[in-house]
Amino acid sequence: MSLAPSATGPDVDVPALLVRTGRPAWDYGALATVRTLGRWGIPVLVMAEPSERELLRSKYIAGRVAVPLSPEAPPERSVGVLNAVAETFGGPCVVIAGDDESAVLLAEHRTDIDPRLLTFDVAADLPRRLSDKASLAGVASAVGVEYPRHIVSTSTQDIRRFVDDVGLPVIAKSPEPYARLADSAVPFTRLIRTGAELAGIERVAAHGHRVFLQEFLARDGVQFWYTAGVATRAGEEPVVWTGRKVAAHPAETGVGVVNVALPQKQIAARMANACAQIGYVGPFDADWVLDPSNGALHLIDFNPRRGAQFRLFTTTSGLDGVRACHLHLTGRHIDWGEQVFGRVQLVENLSLAQGGRGRPRRYLRDPVAVERSWWAADDISPALAMAGQMLGSAGRKILGTAKGRG
Ligand SMILES: Nc1ncnc2c1ncn2[C@@H]1O[C@H](COP(=O)(O)OP(=O)(O)OP(=O)(O)O)[C@@H](O)[C@H]1O
Ligand SMILES: [Mg+2]
Repeated sequence: MSLAPSATGPDVDVPALLVRTGRPAWDYGALATVRTLGRWGIPVLVMAEPSERELLRSKYIAGRVAVPLSPEAPPERSVGVLNAVAETFGGPCVVIAGDDESAVLLAEHRTDIDPRLLTFDVAADLPRRLSDKASLAGVASAVGVEYPRHIVSTSTQDIRRFVDDVGLPVIAKSPEPYARLADSAVPFTRLIRTGAELAGIERVAAHGHRVFLQEFLARDGVQFWYTAGVATRAGEEPVVWTGRKVAAHPAETGVGVVNVALPQKQIAARMANACAQIGYVGPFDADWVLDPSNGALHLIDFNPRRGAQFRLFTTTSGLDGVRACHLHLTGRHIDWGEQVFGRVQLVENLSLAQGGRGRPRRYLRDPVAVERSWWAADDISPALAMAGQMLGSAGRKILGTAKGRG
């Protein structure tokens, strides 16, 4: 291995380890991570369930080293799992966090983690503060960024007062990293449209569950923007890539299923400035809502890790966020190049579920390139495994309906 800071190109002697927490399903961000590094000749080790055929069938996977970390396990045990991988492997290895929880663990326990596992030297508390929807409000206000009005409470009275104030619909979210994986009350971001749905949330709160509600910013014409990149030096403004989420699944609160790389200098500048002020280092993926009618701009989410759609953002030098992490953590020179605009990133199975709204050409007649999440001509097995699962579940539904009628 060579660690000369001026060396160019990836250090293919240093493998990567994709760390994941919980029970990830249909994780196209994991597949994209494996493919982008694999295509550079870097061996990629993953933590995955043996059942994840749509990931494990990729020809770019060098090995499955363990199942994903358990969100319930004490951190020492998770660190033990990571250190055992380092021990087995014996040499340096770049660590890529696949989700907020993994990013939080890597930061909070960096000093206990085997130094052969190469991670970003981020302030230990930052990933948790950024990925927690309530504490993110404090960070946003400290750096002069607008954040939607919200409440975190167990009091039905407070909840009612908040909703009276902002009006329905409101967004309910699981506020903290880890909680979302164990949170049966609000396991994912969802829209509360009616009084009956709100009553359900109030019941949850009355049982002592902290509920996070936020004003819903999605009025007609508002735009959802991504900012992504890799901050390599604390206090310095990183390069920020931008793109728009044009279709999501579920439509109003879900992941982007059609995303388009487009320039948005104002949001890029705000994000770069925020990262510098916060002192953040590492990969980031943050969501913003822009209302072009009045210029109002709100930060809504800051993921202290690469996003699942990170391949939306590529540059003229062949870079993306995961490749930039590998270069940086192996001490290689990074030629950032310029962001390639006009690319579309598509999640085929989810865009199907969105029907016409999931068709990329509805948004961009002539994309520079369409990056599919499952299909890749040089690595077809994951798409086949995915198609097999979808056909299987469609078949089971049809059989179930026929039985129900019979
Ligand atoms: N206050 C809001 N107003 C309008 N839409 C919102 C708001 N908050 C969230 N959304 C929508 O819901 C999506 C998911 O919300 P959010 O990003 O906060 O959740 P998350 O669980 O952290 O998602 P991710 O897995 O992408 O990190 C957003 O990308 C956005 O489309
Ligand atoms: Mg998030």
